[in-house]
Amino acid sequence: MTNKKVLLTRRFPEIATQMLKQAGFLVTTRDTEEPMLQDELVAQSKNHDAVLCTLSDKINTDYIWQNAHLDVISQFAVGYDNIDIYEANKQGIPVGYTPDVLTDATADVAFGLMVATSRKMFYLHKSIIAGNWTYFKPNSNLGIELKNKTLGVLGLGRIGTEMAKRCRGAYKMNVIYHNRNRNAEAEKQLDAEYVSFDELLRKSDVLSLHCALNDDTKGLFDHSAFKKMKPTAIFINTSRGLVHNEADLIEALREGEVWGAGLDVTNPEPMKPDNPLLQMENVCVVPHIGSATVETRDEMAKLAAQNIIGFYNKQGMAHIVNPEILK
Ligand code: DGY
Repeated sequence: MTNKKVLLTRRFPEIATQMLKQAGFLVTTRDTEEPMLQDELVAQSKNHDAVLCTLSDKINTDYIWQNAHLDVISQFAVGYDNIDIYEANKQGIPVGYTPDVLTDATADVAFGLMVATSRKMFYLHKSIIAGNWTYFKPNSNLGIELKNKTLGVLGLGRIGTEMAKRCRGAYKMNVIYHNRNRNAEAEKQLDAEYVSFDELLRKSDVLSLHCALNDDTKGLFDHSAFKKMKPTAIFINTSRGLVHNEADLIEALREGEVWGAGLDVTNPEPMKPDNPLLQMENVCVVPHIGSATVETRDEMAKLAAQNIIGFYNKQGMAHIVNPEILK
Protein backbone atom coordinates (compact mmCIF):
# COMPACT_ATOMS: atom_id res chain seq x y z
CA MET A 1 0.00 0.00 0.00
CA THR A 2 1.12 3.52 -0.70
CA ASN A 3 -0.21 6.78 0.63
CA LYS A 4 0.84 8.70 -2.45
CA LYS A 5 -1.69 11.18 -3.78
CA VAL A 6 -2.56 11.27 -7.46
CA LEU A 7 -4.46 14.13 -9.11
CA LEU A 8 -6.53 13.29 -12.20
CA THR A 9 -6.99 16.65 -13.87
CA ARG A 10 -10.44 15.79 -15.25
CA ARG A 11 -12.77 12.79 -15.60
CA PHE A 12 -10.86 10.06 -17.44
CA PRO A 13 -12.21 6.58 -18.24
CA GLU A 14 -13.11 4.96 -14.92
CA ILE A 15 -10.54 2.19 -15.29
CA ALA A 16 -7.71 4.65 -14.49
CA THR A 17 -9.21 5.53 -11.10
CA GLN A 18 -9.97 1.88 -10.36
CA MET A 19 -6.43 0.75 -11.11
CA LEU A 20 -4.86 3.51 -9.05
CA LYS A 21 -7.17 2.92 -6.07
CA GLN A 22 -6.58 -0.82 -6.22
CA ALA A 23 -2.85 -0.15 -6.13
CA GLY A 24 -3.40 1.83 -2.93
CA PHE A 25 -3.14 5.40 -4.18
CA LEU A 26 -5.23 8.24 -2.81
CA VAL A 27 -6.93 9.52 -5.93
CA THR A 28 -8.42 12.96 -6.49
CA THR A 29 -10.67 12.95 -9.49
CA ARG A 30 -13.21 15.37 -10.88
CA ASP A 31 -16.68 14.69 -12.20
CA THR A 32 -16.24 16.87 -15.26
CA GLU A 33 -14.27 16.57 -18.49
CA GLU A 34 -13.74 20.32 -18.53
CA PRO A 35 -10.15 21.42 -17.97
CA MET A 36 -9.24 23.13 -14.71
CA LEU A 37 -8.41 26.81 -14.72
CA GLN A 38 -4.62 27.14 -14.74
CA ASP A 39 -4.44 28.62 -11.22
CA GLU A 40 -6.51 25.77 -9.89
CA LEU A 41 -4.40 23.18 -11.73
CA VAL A 42 -1.21 24.64 -10.27
CA ALA A 43 -2.67 24.93 -6.77
CA GLN A 44 -4.25 21.46 -6.66
CA SER A 45 -1.11 19.81 -7.98
CA LYS A 46 0.81 21.23 -5.02
CA ASN A 47 -1.07 18.86 -2.73
CA HIS A 48 -0.33 15.78 -4.80
CA ASP A 49 2.63 13.53 -5.58
CA ALA A 50 1.67 12.59 -9.11
CA VAL A 51 -0.52 14.04 -11.85
CA LEU A 52 -2.46 12.33 -14.63
CA CYS A 53 -3.10 14.98 -17.27
CA THR A 54 -3.88 15.48 -20.94
CA LEU A 55 -3.50 17.69 -24.00
CA SER A 56 -5.12 20.91 -22.89
CA ASP A 57 -3.52 20.93 -19.41
CA LYS A 58 -0.70 23.44 -19.59
CA ILE A 59 2.19 21.68 -17.89
CA ASN A 60 4.44 24.60 -18.80
CA THR A 61 7.59 26.05 -17.26
CA ASP A 62 5.71 27.96 -14.59
CA TYR A 63 3.58 24.95 -13.67
CA ILE A 64 6.67 22.75 -13.28
CA TRP A 65 8.57 25.36 -11.28
CA GLN A 66 5.66 25.62 -8.91
CA ASN A 67 5.30 21.83 -8.76
CA ALA A 68 8.91 20.69 -8.81
CA HIS A 69 8.03 18.31 -5.95
CA LEU A 70 6.02 16.03 -8.29
CA ASP A 71 7.37 12.47 -8.49
CA VAL A 72 5.84 11.71 -11.87
CA ILE A 73 3.65 13.23 -14.59
CA SER A 74 1.54 10.84 -16.64
CA GLN A 75 0.08 12.13 -19.88
CA PHE A 76 -3.12 10.62 -21.31
CA ALA A 77 -2.10 11.06 -24.99
CA VAL A 78 0.66 10.10 -27.36
CA GLY A 79 1.53 13.75 -28.05
CA TYR A 80 3.00 15.74 -25.15
CA ASP A 81 3.54 19.20 -26.63
CA ASN A 82 1.55 20.65 -23.70
CA ILE A 83 4.37 19.60 -21.35
CA ASP A 84 7.66 21.46 -21.01
CA ILE A 85 9.90 18.39 -21.19
CA TYR A 86 13.06 20.50 -20.88
CA GLU A 87 11.85 21.85 -17.55
CA ALA A 88 10.64 18.40 -16.39
CA ASN A 89 14.13 17.10 -17.11
CA LYS A 90 15.69 19.95 -15.17
CA GLN A 91 13.51 19.12 -12.18
CA GLY A 92 14.09 15.38 -12.60
CA ILE A 93 10.42 14.55 -13.18
CA PRO A 94 9.70 11.52 -15.39
CA VAL A 95 6.90 11.98 -17.92
CA GLY A 96 4.80 9.05 -19.11
CA TYR A 97 2.64 8.95 -22.26
CA THR A 98 0.35 6.52 -24.13
CA PRO A 99 1.66 5.50 -27.56
CA ASP A 100 0.68 2.48 -29.69
CA VAL A 101 -2.81 1.89 -28.31
CA LEU A 102 -4.27 4.75 -30.35
CA THR A 103 -2.46 4.03 -33.60
CA ASP A 104 -5.31 2.27 -35.42
CA ALA A 105 -8.03 4.58 -34.17
CA THR A 106 -6.12 7.66 -35.34
CA ALA A 107 -5.17 6.14 -38.70
CA ASP A 108 -8.87 5.33 -39.20
CA VAL A 109 -9.77 8.99 -38.74
CA ALA A 110 -7.06 10.11 -41.20
CA PHE A 111 -8.26 7.57 -43.75
CA GLY A 112 -11.92 8.44 -43.14
CA LEU A 113 -11.24 12.16 -43.57
CA MET A 114 -9.42 11.47 -46.83
CA VAL A 115 -12.34 9.50 -48.29
CA ALA A 116 -14.98 11.90 -46.95
CA THR A 117 -13.11 14.93 -48.30
CA SER A 118 -12.49 13.38 -51.72
CA ARG A 119 -16.27 12.92 -52.09
CA LYS A 120 -17.36 16.17 -50.33
CA MET A 121 -19.42 14.10 -47.90
CA PHE A 122 -19.79 16.53 -45.02
CA TYR A 123 -20.82 19.39 -47.30
CA LEU A 124 -23.31 17.24 -49.19
CA HIS A 125 -24.77 15.95 -45.92
CA LYS A 126 -25.38 19.57 -44.91
CA SER A 127 -26.89 20.33 -48.33
CA ILE A 128 -29.61 17.70 -47.74
CA ILE A 129 -30.42 19.29 -44.38
CA ALA A 130 -30.68 22.63 -46.22
CA GLY A 131 -33.27 21.09 -48.58
CA ASN A 132 -31.01 21.08 -51.64
CA TRP A 133 -31.43 17.44 -52.74
CA THR A 134 -33.73 18.01 -55.67
CA TYR A 135 -33.00 15.68 -58.63
CA PHE A 136 -30.12 13.58 -60.00
CA LYS A 137 -27.49 15.85 -61.54
CA PRO A 138 -24.92 14.15 -63.83
CA ASN A 139 -22.40 16.97 -63.55
CA SER A 140 -22.81 18.03 -59.95
CA ASN A 141 -21.52 16.87 -56.56
CA LEU A 142 -18.45 15.39 -58.19
CA GLY A 143 -15.51 14.30 -56.09
CA ILE A 144 -12.14 12.89 -57.09
CA GLU A 145 -10.91 9.28 -57.05
CA LEU A 146 -8.09 7.97 -54.90
CA LYS A 147 -7.15 4.81 -56.78
CA ASN A 148 -3.46 4.66 -57.77
CA LYS A 149 -2.86 8.18 -56.48
CA THR A 150 0.19 9.19 -54.45
CA LEU A 151 -0.06 9.41 -50.67
CA GLY A 152 2.53 11.67 -49.08
CA VAL A 153 3.14 11.14 -45.37
CA LEU A 154 4.91 13.65 -43.18
CA GLY A 155 6.07 11.55 -40.22
CA LEU A 156 6.06 7.89 -41.20
CA GLY A 157 5.98 6.53 -37.66
CA ARG A 158 3.37 4.26 -36.10
CA ILE A 159 0.24 6.18 -37.16
CA GLY A 160 1.63 7.29 -40.54
CA THR A 161 2.50 3.68 -41.35
CA GLU A 162 -1.03 2.49 -40.51
CA MET A 163 -2.51 5.26 -42.67
CA ALA A 164 -0.21 4.20 -45.53
CA LYS A 165 -1.21 0.53 -45.14
CA ARG A 166 -4.88 1.46 -45.38
CA CYS A 167 -4.26 3.57 -48.49
CA ARG A 168 -2.25 0.86 -50.20
CA GLY A 169 -4.78 -1.84 -49.32
CA ALA A 170 -7.86 0.11 -50.36
CA TYR A 171 -6.57 2.14 -53.31
CA LYS A 172 -3.14 0.76 -54.27
CA MET A 173 -1.76 4.19 -53.53
CA ASN A 174 1.90 4.87 -54.09
CA VAL A 175 3.54 6.00 -50.81
CA ILE A 176 6.16 8.71 -50.46
CA TYR A 177 7.26 10.16 -47.13
CA HIS A 178 9.44 12.68 -45.37
CA ASN A 179 10.82 12.15 -41.86
CA ARG A 180 13.66 13.34 -39.70
CA ASN A 181 15.04 9.79 -39.98
CA ARG A 182 14.42 7.24 -42.68
CA ASN A 183 12.11 4.34 -41.83
CA ALA A 184 13.74 1.31 -43.47
CA GLU A 185 11.12 -1.13 -42.23
CA ALA A 186 8.23 0.88 -43.68
CA GLU A 187 10.14 1.40 -46.93
CA LYS A 188 10.33 -2.38 -47.27
CA GLN A 189 6.78 -3.13 -46.12
CA LEU A 190 5.04 -0.38 -48.09
CA ASP A 191 7.45 0.16 -50.90
CA ALA A 192 7.58 3.72 -49.57
CA GLU A 193 9.97 6.22 -51.11
CA TYR A 194 11.83 8.76 -48.98
CA VAL A 195 11.66 12.26 -50.52
CA SER A 196 12.67 15.78 -49.53
CA PHE A 197 10.03 18.01 -47.95
CA ASP A 198 9.77 19.99 -51.18
CA GLU A 199 9.20 16.84 -53.22
CA LEU A 200 6.58 15.71 -50.73
CA LEU A 201 4.70 18.96 -51.32
CA ARG A 202 5.01 18.79 -55.08
CA LYS A 203 4.23 15.11 -55.65
CA SER A 204 1.50 14.21 -53.13
CA ASP A 205 -2.11 13.80 -54.26
CA VAL A 206 -3.02 13.33 -50.62
CA LEU A 207 -0.67 14.79 -48.02
CA SER A 208 -1.28 13.41 -44.54
CA LEU A 209 0.44 14.80 -41.44
CA HIS A 210 1.52 12.41 -38.69
CA CYS A 211 4.40 14.37 -37.20
CA ALA A 212 4.88 15.66 -33.65
CA LEU A 213 4.47 19.36 -32.92
CA ASN A 214 7.87 20.89 -32.22
CA ASP A 215 9.97 23.87 -33.24
CA ASP A 216 10.65 22.30 -36.65
CA THR A 217 7.02 21.55 -37.49
CA LYS A 218 5.20 24.52 -35.95
CA GLY A 219 3.62 26.54 -38.77
CA LEU A 220 5.35 24.36 -41.40
CA PHE A 221 2.27 24.36 -43.63
CA ASP A 222 2.02 28.02 -44.47
CA HIS A 223 1.34 29.98 -47.62
CA SER A 224 4.62 29.00 -49.28
CA ALA A 225 4.11 25.28 -48.56
CA PHE A 226 0.49 25.24 -49.84
CA LYS A 227 1.58 27.07 -52.98
CA LYS A 228 3.95 24.23 -53.85
CA MET A 229 1.23 21.57 -53.56
CA LYS A 230 -0.80 20.24 -56.49
CA PRO A 231 -4.03 22.20 -57.07
CA THR A 232 -5.75 18.79 -57.01
CA ALA A 233 -4.21 17.76 -53.66
CA ILE A 234 -6.04 16.89 -50.45
CA PHE A 235 -4.43 18.03 -47.19
CA ILE A 236 -5.10 15.85 -44.12
CA ASN A 237 -4.09 16.83 -40.59
CA THR A 238 -4.64 14.47 -37.65
CA SER A 239 -1.42 15.48 -35.84
CA ARG A 240 -1.59 18.95 -34.30
CA GLY A 241 -3.40 22.03 -35.57
CA LEU A 242 -0.39 24.28 -34.98
CA VAL A 243 1.51 22.47 -37.76
CA HIS A 244 -0.63 24.35 -40.27
CA ASN A 245 -1.39 28.02 -40.50
CA GLU A 246 -5.18 28.10 -40.67
CA ALA A 247 -5.52 31.50 -42.37
CA ASP A 248 -3.06 30.33 -45.06
CA LEU A 249 -4.98 27.07 -45.50
CA ILE A 250 -8.25 28.97 -45.96
CA GLU A 251 -6.61 31.19 -48.56
CA ALA A 252 -5.01 28.23 -50.36
CA LEU A 253 -8.42 26.52 -50.60
CA ARG A 254 -10.10 29.72 -51.79
CA GLU A 255 -7.39 30.34 -54.39
CA GLY A 256 -7.48 26.72 -55.58
CA GLU A 257 -3.87 26.10 -54.55
CA VAL A 258 -5.03 22.90 -52.85
CA TRP A 259 -8.26 21.06 -53.68
CA GLY A 260 -9.50 19.99 -50.26
CA ALA A 261 -8.73 19.47 -46.58
CA GLY A 262 -9.68 16.98 -43.89
CA LEU A 263 -8.90 18.12 -40.37
CA ASP A 264 -9.11 16.36 -37.03
CA VAL A 265 -7.04 19.10 -35.44
CA THR A 266 -7.42 22.82 -35.91
CA ASN A 267 -5.68 26.00 -35.02
CA PRO A 268 -6.92 27.16 -32.59
CA GLU A 269 -8.87 24.42 -30.85
CA PRO A 270 -11.74 24.42 -30.37
CA MET A 271 -12.61 25.75 -33.85
CA LYS A 272 -15.18 28.56 -33.78
CA PRO A 273 -18.56 27.70 -35.36
CA ASP A 274 -18.22 30.59 -37.83
CA ASN A 275 -14.89 29.37 -39.24
CA PRO A 276 -15.09 29.61 -43.06
CA LEU A 277 -13.61 26.11 -43.40
CA LEU A 278 -16.90 24.71 -42.09
CA GLN A 279 -18.76 26.16 -45.09
CA MET A 280 -16.37 24.94 -47.77
CA GLU A 281 -17.43 22.23 -50.16
CA ASN A 282 -14.15 20.29 -50.14
CA VAL A 283 -13.45 20.42 -46.41
CA CYS A 284 -14.30 17.95 -43.64
CA VAL A 285 -13.57 18.84 -40.01
CA VAL A 286 -14.00 16.70 -36.88
CA PRO A 287 -13.25 17.82 -33.30
CA HIS A 288 -9.94 16.09 -32.43
CA ILE A 289 -11.40 12.58 -32.26
CA GLY A 290 -8.35 10.60 -33.45
CA SER A 291 -8.23 8.37 -30.38
CA ALA A 292 -11.92 8.62 -29.51
CA THR A 293 -13.17 5.04 -29.43
CA VAL A 294 -14.35 3.31 -26.27
CA GLU A 295 -11.66 0.65 -26.61
CA THR A 296 -8.79 3.04 -27.32
CA ARG A 297 -9.64 5.51 -24.57
CA ASP A 298 -9.82 2.63 -22.06
CA GLU A 299 -6.41 1.39 -23.19
CA MET A 300 -4.97 4.92 -22.90
CA ALA A 301 -6.38 5.21 -19.37
CA LYS A 302 -4.83 1.87 -18.41
CA LEU A 303 -1.43 2.87 -19.77
CA ALA A 304 -1.56 6.27 -18.07
CA ALA A 305 -2.45 4.68 -14.71
CA GLN A 306 0.09 1.89 -15.18
CA ASN A 307 2.84 4.43 -15.83
CA ILE A 308 2.22 5.88 -12.35
CA ILE A 309 1.89 2.49 -10.66
CA GLY A 310 5.01 1.17 -12.41
CA PHE A 311 6.99 4.23 -11.38
CA TYR A 312 6.22 3.75 -7.69
CA ASN A 313 6.43 -0.04 -7.48
CA LYS A 314 9.79 0.06 -9.25
CA GLN A 315 8.60 -2.11 -12.13
CA GLY A 316 9.24 0.91 -14.29
CA MET A 317 7.16 3.06 -16.59
CA ALA A 318 6.26 1.17 -19.77
CA HIS A 319 6.13 4.38 -21.80
CA ILE A 320 8.30 7.25 -20.73
CA VAL A 321 9.22 10.37 -22.71
CA ASN A 322 12.46 11.15 -20.82
CA PRO A 323 13.97 7.81 -19.67
CA GLU A 324 17.43 9.38 -19.39
CA ILE A 325 16.51 11.14 -16.13
CA LEU A 326 15.88 7.84 -14.34
CA LYS A 327 19.41 6.62 -14.97
C1 DGY B 1 -2.86 12.30 -28.73
O1 DGY B 1 -2.91 11.27 -28.03
O2 DGY B 1 -1.84 12.98 -28.83
C2 DGY B 1 -4.09 12.65 -29.45
O3 DGY B 1 -3.98 13.81 -30.16
C3 DGY B 1 -5.26 12.69 -28.50
O4 DGY B 1 -6.12 11.75 -28.87
